[in-house]
Amino acid sequence: MAIEIIATGRAIPPRRLTNHDLAAKLDTSDAWIRSHTGIGARHIADEDTACSDLALEAARQALVMVAAQEGSGNETGDMTQVALTLDVIILGTATPDYLGCPSTACVVQDKLGARNAAALDITAGCSGFIYGLEIAAGLLGTRSGRKRALVIGSEILSRFVDWTDRGMCILFGDGAGAAIVERTENPSAGPAKQGLLRTILGADGSGTEHLIMWRGGSRNPYKPGDLDGMPPHIEMNGRAVYNFAVKSVTETIENLLAQENITINEVSRIVPHQANARIVQAAGKRLGIPEEKFFLNIQEYANTSAASIPIALDELNRAGELRKGDLIMTIGFGAGLTYGGNLIIW
Ligand code: COA
Repeated sequence: MAIEIIATGRAIPPRRLTNHDLAAKLDTSDAWIRSHTGIGARHIADEDTACSDLALEAARQALVMVAAQEGSGNETGDMTQVALTLDVIILGTATPDYLGCPSTACVVQDKLGARNAAALDITAGCSGFIYGLEIAAGLLGTRSGRKRALVIGSEILSRFVDWTDRGMCILFGDGAGAAIVERTENPSAGPAKQGLLRTILGADGSGTEHLIMWRGGSRNPYKPGDLDGMPPHIEMNGRAVYNFAVKSVTETIENLLAQENITINEVSRIVPHQANARIVQAAGKRLGIPEEKFFLNIQEYANTSAASIPIALDELNRAGELRKGDLIMTIGFGAGLTYGGNLIIW
């Protein structure tokens, strides 16, 4: 048995906000943002677009890819049929349609017509897709009878940042990425190992306050009049998150390689969470990994949290840069604090 990613998709809002656009309104500059983060632009959803809308678009693209592989009927009909084959929808997000309930995954399930799928959201910050893949692998176990999962990372971060805080608002963007994951039964027909090889997941809850939305939950519920002031927004201790990120990325890469008993030379591509190019560069330098091994698209999308890794996978996949048999590593970290990584034979 193997757990394989058979299709990918992404949704990027058309509205592009460059560093220069921000510098026209805030005390910042393109040079500062680029040199401190690697970000050049971010994409911002219009006000009618919610998390589930981007998730739906990314999911549809992935379903159409499966439909094309299976090659029957017209595109819409195909996609609808493929949606019916989904057994579970897992959606990682920090910016759901609704606070608490219902899950955004249930909204997506309905709009896709995926009537046979269970649906749940996971809250693992920017590690959401990495956690989601491993949860999918667990749910698709042989005993379960389930065969196909849709794993999505989707975020509308622009709605939860303080646009007057130059230290925060420059960092984030909106977007969604999706992958369809399938349990295949006959790996003996192909290479000895395939699909999701290994996952590391971890958390350090002592860092909860380093990246947090203080208001709106049961700890600090809204009170009458609250919404007249500052809207709910994410707050961050940037230095603490930076240090955690470099350490967790470095250790997770080392541990994935050691546990699988392989060297970095065997890995074709590392697809890191796109939070700050300097985090990736610092970890790469510590481990002696050439920068080209890491795929970075942060310059165009900024940090899209749980969406950043599936967006990157879809870009690479559609550009033909992920060949069958390539060993791919994902690496991420985020609010919680959480961290993790997957090793996948494409
Ligand atoms: N433009 C211009 N100057 C800015 C600025 C901006 N957008 N944001 C901050 N500054 C200023 C600060 O006010 C400070 O000025 P001062 O020295 O006069 O006080 C100076 O730049 C340095 O600020 P600092 O916050 O120390 O910068 P930094 O080098 O630590 O970089 C981050 C800040 C946010 C880029 C960095 O801490 C980081 O990337 N942290 C991790 C963030 C992250 O990955 N979060 C998501 C995790 S999933």
